[in-house]
Amino acid sequence: MANIILLGPPGAGKGTQAKRLVDERAMVQLSTGDMLREAKTSGTEMGRRVAEVMDKGQLVTDEIVIGLIEEKLTGAQGGGFIFDGFPRTLPQADALSALLARKGQALDAVIEMQVDDDALVARITGRYTCGNCGEVYHDQTRPSKVAGTCDACGSHDLRRRADDNELALKTRLMEYYKKTSPLIGYYYAKGELSTVNGLAEMDAVAAEIAKVLDKT
Ligand code: AP5
Repeated sequence: MANIILLGPPGAGKGTQAKRLVDERAMVQLSTGDMLREAKTSGTEMGRRVAEVMDKGQLVTDEIVIGLIEEKLTGAQGGGFIFDGFPRTLPQADALSALLARKGQALDAVIEMQVDDDALVARITGRYTCGNCGEVYHDQTRPSKVAGTCDACGSHDLRRRADDNELALKTRLMEYYKKTSPLIGYYYAKGELSTVNGLAEMDAVAAEIAKVLDKT
């Protein structure tokens, strides 16, 4: 069992690799992006505020996302937790350490997925996902086998995200470099950081992640 963080800019492949780990290692994916997208549709005042911030590509407040993770972080589960898109700021990283300690758990690895910014625009603007099961596709690199139908669950609810456009991506990248990239040094200093080449083919990225996990 291992608790890991997948760290990387928008489009690095965090969600894609997290889904594989759920299938292959029975790990539990905790994606704050998915939780916030669910909150957006709740019809509440909080959901409306979250939608406004997310659609522009900015970060939601630490207080909200830490609260969401706290709700989901029950005792040890399956093959361990994959923190996907969390933490994204230093206060979130400190909060995660404290939460895990309170649950008697540890962080086993932080996996940074390195990708050139140039590759991210093509990845983000070509992405679509299944609204039912969350499977991730891409117009060029990973289209669904039957157009308009999810390979994994057969749903026809394939969607594009409101923040998957060049303008919002610019803001998302700025937010990443200003607020999230300092976490690379933070976890390096703690001796917890491993780096994988996120530009490689999906199977090769998965193999590199497996090597890190097998050492934990
Ligand atoms: P979130 O949902 O976390 O989005 P993100 O970090 O921007 O990451 P993405 O989901 O865009 O990319 P990914 O790395 O998962 O890539 P994917 O696997 O899909 O966050 C969205 C928003 O929510 C934030 O902007 C913020 O507003 C808010 N938020 C979330 N968490 C927060 C937090 N902790 N604090 C504050 N605010 C928060 O892959 C992308 C595409 O590339 C896909 O089409 C895929 O098929 C393709 N692809 C993947 N791997 C490869 C490969 N190896 N080769 C070729 N193509 C590939």
